[in-house]
Amino acid sequence: MFVNVHRLRKCRLRHLMTMCFVMLMVTVYWETLDNSILSHIKSYSLRRLFTSFDYISANLKISHEEARKFSNHRYLINHEQKCAGQNVLLLLFVKTSPENFERRQAIRSTWGNEVYIEETLGATVRVLFALGLHPQPVQRRKLQRQLQEENERYHDLIQQDFFDTFHNLTLKLLLQMSWTHFYCCHARFLMSADDDIFVHLPNLIRYLQEADKAGVKDFWIGKVHRGSPPVRSKESKYYVSQEMYPWSIYPDYTPGAGYVLSKDVASRVYQASLTLNSSIHIDDVFLGICANAMGISPQDHVFFSGEGRAPYHLCIYNQMMTSHGHEEDFHELWRHATDPEVQKVSSGLFGRLYCTVAKVRLLCISHLFVSYPCKAAFL
Ligand SMILES: *[C@@H]1O[C@H](CO)[C@@H](O)[C@H](O)[C@H]1NC(C)=O
Ligand SMILES: *[C@@H]1O[C@H](CO)[C@@H](O)[C@H](O)[C@H]1NC(C)=O
Repeated sequence: MFVNVHRLRKCRLRHLMTMCFVMLMVTVYWETLDNSILSHIKSYSLRRLFTSFDYISANLKISHEEARKFSNHRYLINHEQKCAGQNVLLLLFVKTSPENFERRQAIRSTWGNEVYIEETLGATVRVLFALGLHPQPVQRRKLQRQLQEENERYHDLIQQDFFDTFHNLTLKLLLQMSWTHFYCCHARFLMSADDDIFVHLPNLIRYLQEADKAGVKDFWIGKVHRGSPPVRSKESKYYVSQEMYPWSIYPDYTPGAGYVLSKDVASRVYQASLTLNSSIHIDDVFLGICANAMGISPQDHVFFSGEGRAPYHLCIYNQMMTSHGHEEDFHELWRHATDPEVQKVSSGLFGRLYCTVAKVRLLCISHLFVSYPCKAAFL
């Protein structure tokens, strides 16, 4: 009896001490907790409560004249005829910066190769690079000369006269939306991609050909971020002030690394952008706000990696759409991704079984890669 009571007391004491310790930790780390975890929990529960974000777009409404001030930038390099008279399946905008010549070269000779897609899949794709001006005057002059030469060779740059900086990314989004509206509104799909992602264009084109045959509308795919809170810590480059965005949750959106819109969605997003305050510099969030204003929501595609980098594996190449964080390995990835042998790996019962096991290991068990969700292993 005595022993039991004693043990009970000891147990209580341990409980109490643990509680105290937890309380202490919570108090000490309250700031960080409050900023990151709590805001996520808060916004996640808010996301459950509110399915409509109409109040956000209603609050950001401005007149056409005011909105035009944001997007009233002159073209320095343009190709008005790039889509004209063509039966374009996909218009693909790669967001690049003046100095990223190497990346553009790598993209042109790998996944951005229009000719390869035309020949192997019979689909017309237009790949264009969207950019602004280098912010430093000396570099700007030098780079502008180089860009002119590059453009004379490849005819694929679209440049406006805003400074090409992180905080001007929304201007680059407006460039893409308005260029599409004026010069390529008949393209059935529009994609926006960063210049450091790998797009498995053959996989994507096959997928879009199916979608096109089915006549899809309201189509917006990528890796969906649901109920993300704005970052309120000033050190982050994603910092957004209360003044700029007073709400604690963003409408659903797909990260700017790579997403695809059908032409009806692109057109409605463009219309929305003409009457909304686009001073928020996070371009993908602004796209989310525009789409939300038009009642459009994104659909998750498990093989869009968002900010994640895909594991290198034959069984992954078969299904991947995008993978983020590449530069030097474009050529190698492209070679593997388009190798006919790769398609064979996952065919037949044994192939499928082998690939499922391999993908479970890569996506569900190993935490080295946070690219595709575990459920992608079973598709
Ligand atoms: C964005 O571009 C405009 C026009 O060039 C420029 O005035 C502004 O300073 C730029 N903003 C940033 C944050 O670079
Ligand atoms: C747009 O929003 C910003 C706050 O981020 C505000 O300072 C600005 O006045 C707004 N513009 C218009 C035209 O309402």
